[in-house]
This record gives sequence, C-alpha cells and structure tokens, in this order.
Amino acid sequence: MVSHITGAWNFPTRVITGAGRVAELPETCRALDIAKPLLVTDKGLAETALIAGLVKRLCDAGIEVRIFADVKSNPTETNLNAGIAAFRSGGHDGVIAVGGGSALDVGKCVAFMVPQSRPVWDFEDVGDWWTRANSKGIAPIIAVPTTAGTGSEVGRAGVITREETHEKKIIFHPLMMPKVAVQDPELAVGLPPFLTMATGMDALAHCFEAYCVDGFHPLADGVALEGLRIIDKYLPRAVDNGGDLEARAYMFAAASMGATAFQKGLGAIHSVSHPVGARYDTHHGLTNGVIFPYVLVCNKTAIADKIPHIARTLDLPSRDFSAVLDWILALRKKLGVPHTLAELGVKEVDVRAIAAGAVKDPTAGANPRQLTEAEFEQLTLAAIRGDLGG
Ligand SMILES: NC(=O)c1ccc[n+]([C@@H]2O[C@H](COP(=O)([O-])OP(=O)(O)OC[C@H]3O[C@@H](n4cnc5c(N)ncnc54)[C@H](O)[C@@H]3O)[C@@H](O)[C@H]2O)c1
Ligand SMILES: [Fe+2]
Repeated sequence: MVSHITGAWNFPTRVITGAGRVAELPETCRALDIAKPLLVTDKGLAETALIAGLVKRLCDAGIEVRIFADVKSNPTETNLNAGIAAFRSGGHDGVIAVGGGSALDVGKCVAFMVPQSRPVWDFEDVGDWWTRANSKGIAPIIAVPTTAGTGSEVGRAGVITREETHEKKIIFHPLMMPKVAVQDPELAVGLPPFLTMATGMDALAHCFEAYCVDGFHPLADGVALEGLRIIDKYLPRAVDNGGDLEARAYMFAAASMGATAFQKGLGAIHSVSHPVGARYDTHHGLTNGVIFPYVLVCNKTAIADKIPHIARTLDLPSRDFSAVLDWILALRKKLGVPHTLAELGVKEVDVRAIAAGAVKDPTAGANPRQLTEAEFEQLTLAAIRGDLGG
C-alpha cells in the first residue's frame, strides 16, 4: 500500500463541440425533458444577434424560452436572487446558460438554488458543506459558453460576489455540473481581442495552477499539460483573428480542460485574484494574467520538479525555471496583458485587505507553498509594483 496514492475524481459533462452545433440546442432540451427553459445570459449579450438567433431557434422548435439577463460581470448575490425569482415565477423546468463565466455561473447557481431553503453562502466550497443541500429538484442545466476561459461549462461550481464583504465565494455542488455543454466556436467570433486575451489567461492560469498543485491526480496532470500546450499555440491566433474557428475551437477545448484539471486544486494566482476582483471589479482572467509571473517566482522552489515537464510541453529552449518565466513574460507582452496590478487600478493602501482575503480564499490551501498573510502582502505588493525580484 503506497499511502500517498489516494484520491477521488470526476471527469466532466457531455460536451458537444464544433462550428454550427448550437443548432442542436432544441433536441438537447428535448433529450433532457426541458420544455420551458430559462435562458440566463448577461446584459451585453442579451442585446446581440447571437441571443436573438438562439431564442428564435428554440421558439421555432416549440420550446417556450424566456430570457433572464440581469447579470453583471463578476456577478453578485443580487443578480442570483433575481434569477431565482425569475425561474420560480416563470415555472421553468431547466436552465440554458449562455455567455461567459459570469452568465454560466449565475445560470448554474439559479438551477441549484431552486429547491434550497438555506442562503447560498451555506453552500460555499468548504469541506462537505455541499451535503447541506437539497439535491432533489435541482434543475437540469445546458451550458453554452461564448468565452473560452473559465471552463464553467464543465465545472461543479459557480463564483458569486458577496458585495458587503468584498468576497468572491465559490458555491459548489456536484449537481451544478451542466448535463450538456455546447462549445460552438462560431459563438466566440464576436468576442473582441482584449476579452479573448483576458478570458484565455484564465484558462492558462487554471491549467498551470492545477498542474503545480501537489497531490495524486495523474489524469488532471495530463489534461493540464495538454491544455497549456493548446493555449500557448492557439490563444495568440484567436486574439489576432477572432474568426479563426480552429483557434476558437481549440481554445474552448482548453478552457474546459483547465476546469477539468482544477478539480485537483488551484493556487495563489486565484487566491489574490479573487479579493482583487471583488474589491476593484477587475476582469478575473485579466487579473490572473497580471498576477501570474509574481506567483511563479514566489513558488519557484516548491515547483522545481514540475518546471522541466512544463518547459518540455511548451518546447522551450531550456528546461530551467528562467525559460518558463521568460515564456510567460513574452506571452503576456505579445497578447497585451498589463505588467502590474497598479495598471488595473489596485492601490498599495489595500494590500493588507487583499492579503487578508487571499489567505482565507479556498484556493490558498492548495498553493504548492503555504503562504502566510504577510507573504501574501509581499506578493500583492510585488504585483502592484511590477517587482519580479533579482
Ligand atoms: N465557475 C468557475 O469554475 C469559474 C472559474 C473561473 C472564473 N469564474 C468566474 O467567471 C467570471 C468571468 O467569466 P468570463 O471571463 O467568461 O467573463 P464574463 O462572463 O464576465 O464576460 C466578460 C464580458 O464579455 C462579454 N462577452 C461574452 N461573450 C461574448 C461574445 N461571444 N461576444 C462579445 N462579448 C462577449 C460579456 O457580455 C461581458 O461583458 C468571473 O466572475 C469569475 O470569477 C468561474
Ligand atoms: Fe479562474
């Protein structure tokens, strides 16, 4: 018996992928016995031809769909409560969540909250809190991502901002995993280069952090490394030319690979990103992209055994730490990721509050090096000032 070989894992939801495959939405609803779905999206997307086209397609097939679009980026409890009310009052029997991580997370949390009597914060991803939930009556979810970043379409969690405490809370339940995800690269064609970059940096951070987390999870490790390779190759192409359907399709795949892999855990990029995003309303993936190299430097010793594998996967000129650091700095520069948190408006006066949030973020425990609150302060300050040491 080898004691460190112990684990439990799930591999995800059914994924339908390919250009034009969103046309299969009506039959997907029927297969799941969804006749009256609530289509959850965000305000910006609700006004686009993309949503109008989906609604028409569903209505033409006799599916009685209504739209709920009161979802902001970094969605809040207020958004979630409005969505739950819309679902209940409309007598819906399923959720079609269409959009980026924000819309998908709200859609998933609405479906999950329908039969619950406790407040959503009782289901934060802490220990076995999810077992407090009433599993009967959770509505079936179809997820249609329009960004390739969070991978929320294959995940069992939703991220909701608790406004009064400036915290991003991860809400978790196994049945929050969508029954089907439809990854249609044509839906991402209109995503502007800046958001393509920002969302892609989230997928990159997921793959990188999941691979670097300690723990026995060879399946997640393999998925994470291949995800890294795909993002390195295809994200620049998707940013350069939004109509490159091959690059869009690969990026969708990589986003769901990141979320598949991060059931192993995430790390300090996310621990710092969450309180920054909750306080400053910065885009999650963009924030991750900025923080990435500072966490890499901070974790240098703890991930020494992982670096050669990452360097080999990315076909870097050497297998050393410096090659991986140079790679991420060059990729960020090429894609236009800002170098410092100061450029996102983060102020040194908030460093203590950010560190206090980071150290208790659920992702902090899995970082390859356990960081104290004081170390999180140093890390945040370094990212604000652009100080990579040396
Ligand atoms: N559930 C998870 O596992 C998980 C993982 C990581 C992050 N998140 C959360 O997801 C959220 C971020 O999601 P995101 O990065 O996808 O961004 P987002 O959903 O906030 O969307 C960003 C912007 O892109 C626009 N947009 C989306 N698709 C578009 C398209 N095809 N064309 C034009 N505009 C489009 C939206 O209208 C919005 O204005 C954050 O709240 C983050 O904390 C969740
Ligand atoms: Fe993320």
